[in-house]
Amino acid sequence: MISLGSDNHSGVHPQILTALNNINTGHAPSYGTDPTTVAAKKLFKKIFGEHSNSYFVFNGSAANVLCLKSLIKSHHAILCAGDAHLNVDECGAPEQHIGCKVIHVNTPDAKLTPEAIEKHLIRRGDQHYSQIKVVSLTLPTELGTMYSFAELEAIKATCKKYDLFLHIDGARFIYAPYVLQKSMQEICSGVDALSFGGTKNGMLFGEAVVLFGDHPEFKFIRKQTLQLPSKMRFLAAQFLELFGTDLHTDIARNGVELAKYLESKLLTVPELRITQKVQANSVFVEIPQKWVKPLREKFFFYIWNETTFEARLMLSFDSTKEHIDAFYDHLLTIKTQLRGEQHETRSHRDRQQQH
Ligand SMILES: Cc1ncc(COP(=O)(O)O)c(C=O)c1O
Repeated sequence: MISLGSDNHSGVHPQILTALNNINTGHAPSYGTDPTTVAAKKLFKKIFGEHSNSYFVFNGSAANVLCLKSLIKSHHAILCAGDAHLNVDECGAPEQHIGCKVIHVNTPDAKLTPEAIEKHLIRRGDQHYSQIKVVSLTLPTELGTMYSFAELEAIKATCKKYDLFLHIDGARFIYAPYVLQKSMQEICSGVDALSFGGTKNGMLFGEAVVLFGDHPEFKFIRKQTLQLPSKMRFLAAQFLELFGTDLHTDIARNGVELAKYLESKLLTVPELRITQKVQANSVFVEIPQKWVKPLREKFFFYIWNETTFEARLMLSFDSTKEHIDAFYDHLLTIKTQLRGEQHETRSHRDRQQQH
């Protein structure tokens, strides 16, 4: 079965598997003191600037929680979009680990705006109210949309104006520099913490917490939160391969080009409605309810909205044009079959009415 369900469904990129294999010789010190981790951290400083510090962790929810925990206290609140992973898909982990409140803003494209942020900055200094102290945005968003560079700059300025921290959930951050044609450092200038994704972008597992500025206490927070990998070199080697070569750009290019190709195919089917701008590696599309079950017999995908039958179709590093062509052909077959059945039911009804 071909999955269009998630970029978590693909395996490990062969280049990364080779890098893992290459590092799998002899012994090395643990907990990040090995030469591979030292080299990967150096690479991250080159990418994000000398004032950044990177820490490798096991998964994305932990990266989010740890970024935010390094910035705020339990009487603070995080402001994010309603669709934000940390709001709806982390089982309350930020609330559990930080003790803070998460306040969300519902937006049609999962993007925050300065106006939406300002509207929520109420009761500042009121001891009865959780104080919004950090804005968290996802880049690209959970709906596959991308902030423009100007939109990002406007949010940065708003955060600065109101003395708020800015966090980016970058589970799929690799798409941002490719689409915006800006360096990772330019995108992150003015950002306080970045959850930097590896798993969804061809790695076996592993994410990075990138903190801008000094956080001498962070290493203790990571350990207490059970996210200090002992054989750290196996995370570091993957990051070195992904970001020390052009692999991240190749994966981003493949994801964006195929998403746009998929969009162009779906646009030819009048019964479908594309609901979001296609700006990263996913397409959101409303599908007639009756098509969903037969479609999923061959291609897995998630229904994002159970009431409108909006599906999320997502591409991975190993997705190909052939996968999309096969999906499209299957879709057209189902459409024809269901139309035939509908036609048959109608003529059966007509015949019955004649009797
Ligand atoms: C936007 C976003 N952030 C964070 C995560 C965290 O992922 P996990 O904790 O499953 O590694 C995900 C995973 O789906 C995601 O889509």
